[in-house]
Amino acid sequence: MKTIRIAIFGLGVVGSHVIKLLEKNSYKLNDANFKIVAIGAKNKNKKRNFNIKRYNWIKNYQELSKNEKPDLIIETIGGTGSYINNLYKYCIDNEISLITANKAQLAEKGHSFFGNFDKKNLFLGYEAAVLGAVPVVRGIEQSILPSKVNAIYGIFNGTTNYIISQMYENKISFQDSLNQAIKNGFAEQDSSADLSGRDASHKLVLLSSLSFGHKFKFADMGFNGIENVKLIDLEQGLKLGYKLKLVSISERQKNKFYSSVAPCFVPENSLVANTNFEENVISLEGDDFLKTSLVGKGAGGYPTATSIISDLKKFSVRNPDHGVFQIKYSNMSKATFYDQSLRKRPYYIRMSVLNKVGVLKSIANLFAQKSISIKSLIQLNTSNDKVVPIVIISDATDIDKINHVIKNLKKSSFLKKEISVIRIEEHIG
Ligand SMILES: NC(=O)c1ccc[n+]([C@@H]2O[C@H](COP(=O)([O-])OP(=O)(O)OC[C@H]3O[C@@H](n4cnc5c(N)ncnc54)[C@H](OP(=O)(O)O)[C@@H]3O)[C@@H](O)[C@H]2O)c1
Repeated sequence: MKTIRIAIFGLGVVGSHVIKLLEKNSYKLNDANFKIVAIGAKNKNKKRNFNIKRYNWIKNYQELSKNEKPDLIIETIGGTGSYINNLYKYCIDNEISLITANKAQLAEKGHSFFGNFDKKNLFLGYEAAVLGAVPVVRGIEQSILPSKVNAIYGIFNGTTNYIISQMYENKISFQDSLNQAIKNGFAEQDSSADLSGRDASHKLVLLSSLSFGHKFKFADMGFNGIENVKLIDLEQGLKLGYKLKLVSISERQKNKFYSSVAPCFVPENSLVANTNFEENVISLEGDDFLKTSLVGKGAGGYPTATSIISDLKKFSVRNPDHGVFQIKYSNMSKATFYDQSLRKRPYYIRMSVLNKVGVLKSIANLFAQKSISIKSLIQLNTSNDKVVPIVIISDATDIDKINHVIKNLKKSSFLKKEISVIRIEEHIG
């Protein structure tokens, strides 16, 4: 039986559970023994959920001595600062493989080191960095050929899904739901990366690169979050047969791509609509396999540690010729994006307007100027006889045209208060 020497840096929610799972498995996975040669975190005196005295504590990876040199480092620290950059460089320079849960580092900085891991035939495992316990990387690697995937989409962030689900269930505002999620341990005090869509975008970068075999760069991807989602829009959407979700999508059309993270309406009977609270979902669509979906816990100590264990198993039996994304990074082409005006979708627009003769005609004119048909216009109940809230559902059109209409609506004298614009993804299953 071979022995694989590992060091684990970062012993918080994820790292500590990796140790607990290894202890539970008596440090044996497949036909390999795993020897923990060193562990480290920031504060040695912190109370941990395992006995640190059983292990060799070192303050810093740079203190790894020659006889402690591991075959593989597990990085569960997080962040994208120079400490983390230097740790990745240290791995490459010293020919040490790496398993990480750090999607921010991989998505934002990965293009500068993926190729070096490939060149040196080092393993870089990131199953834990994308959708927690959902075995999506293994699923794509083992069952789906990159050339066959035409679309990936789903819910890639559990915190925002939890907040939206609670808004529906308890009929509460975004802010109240966020406060509740913090209290229940499903959101951090600073959840800005989750709320803004940045975290989902990190995962979309990695899953798009793996699914399509092209280099996706975080800097090229736009993302929108849920901070401005209003309960009234969730309720109006439901009346029309839609549920709002923070949807991540990448699609291929003739080897050009469209990628987005944004709050969208999806059909209320779809799998995405029915994936609630901290659950994540990913669906892949392709020529031959048509559609396949995976659902599971997107975060948490044990669920995420399970994915690190899956990477450890893969490392013990891996074929070193495979690159980080199944293809060598240097052989992957850069993803280019098709003109978003080619992608047409219906839009939901809610606004409050002056209750005056001619206002509806002026609104219809603004849509007509951009050749957008209005599929339905609903006037909502109100006790205010001066200002009326209305909801418009447009026919499928592109975002540039919708933005043009919204710009003109905002300039008009009849628009009162906020305006909500939500894309409708009718084909999402
Ligand atoms: N939590 C999840 O459910 C989850 C899910 C998927 C992916 N991830 C990713 O997993 C990574 C870790 O997340 P987490 O939730 O486990 O974070 P965490 O609980 O905050 O743990 C971070 C760990 O890193 C240690 N650390 C901080 N600075 C360090 C430094 N300079 N040198 C060495 N160790 C240092 C901390 O030390 P102390 O303990 O001494 O403070 C702590 O043990 C992140 O990249 C995160 O995005 C997390």
